[in-house]
Amino acid sequence: MLSGKDAEKYIDSQCGVKGYRYPFTPYPDGWYAVAWEEDINPKKGLPGKICGKDVVVFKTESGNVNVFDAYCPHLGAHLGYGGVVEGNSIVCPFHNWSFGESGACDGVRCVDKPIKASVKKWRSVVVDGMVMAWYSAGHEEPLWQVDSYWDEGWTKPALTDSCQWVLRVHVQDICENGIDTAHFAAVHGTEDFADKLEVNYHKHKAYWSTTGEHKVENEIVRTESDTVLQGLGLLSLLLKDPAAGISIRTYLHMTPIDDEHVAVRMPVAIESSKSESIDSEMFNAIVHELAQVIEKDFDIWENKQYIERPPYSRIDGPIGKFRDWAKRFYTQE
Ligand code: FES
Ligand SMILES: [Fe+2]
Repeated sequence: MLSGKDAEKYIDSQCGVKGYRYPFTPYPDGWYAVAWEEDINPKKGLPGKICGKDVVVFKTESGNVNVFDAYCPHLGAHLGYGGVVEGNSIVCPFHNWSFGESGACDGVRCVDKPIKASVKKWRSVVVDGMVMAWYSAGHEEPLWQVDSYWDEGWTKPALTDSCQWVLRVHVQDICENGIDTAHFAAVHGTEDFADKLEVNYHKHKAYWSTTGEHKVENEIVRTESDTVLQGLGLLSLLLKDPAAGISIRTYLHMTPIDDEHVAVRMPVAIESSKSESIDSEMFNAIVHELAQVIEKDFDIWENKQYIERPPYSRIDGPIGKFRDWAKRFYTQE
């Protein structure tokens, strides 16, 4: 028999929708974050996860960032746990086989000739501080390139521990949340959202702008925002509080890591005041505030069902079109 806290815990664990909840694969085609560049130790491999695959991220001596499949083709050691960088190669910790930038084995200890073996190299790019890799179920080549949204006069995008989460959700659901203006008031306490949101679509990109009023410490703050989605893995948001003269850039990186979980990372940059101490104070306050706003969504995301044909209300308008656009990322369906 369970009672008290144990009973509560048991009920909690039995509630919510169990198992895979979506009528599409957890891994749509796209560019996904695998590591924050600053987290890479220049001497070591860093383990990562993307679309159900284990990878290793490393930086060569000449400064290139590479993403490889994690497992050494010799006897299967994970290159992210103990793999070291030598020159432009990564060396396996198990028997010291070495793999060059192409992924091909370029050295085996005590053997004169390299052995024919290689690890898969992922297409990768570093944009605004984030290492991203291209995933596609059917295409080798990326279908688009990732645009940078960082500008001169802004602080360098920074990623704090408080802005990283692993959530039981689908990347498409998080993106849909951005255009679901009807939830802004209910979940985030934002009033005066645009009655009819105009979302513009261009190939792999979607754009929209909103205005809103939030209560911050009993004061009404009016904000304007411009959002760009690049595929279903990266949402960039420019948030302005014109009255206070504050502009914030957030990046919401969403990486499917396994069938049910998404790693969410949210680096933030602010328009610089030209004073380092003011910038850092502002940054800390803003990061705290933004994390609180997004965390309000998490319980809903982790426990909801995906309704394929919802009974839309007048203001739910953009959701249907968004779902049609999102189909382009499922090339193997
Ligand atoms: S497992 Fe990597 S060198 Fe043997
Ligand atoms: Fe939300």
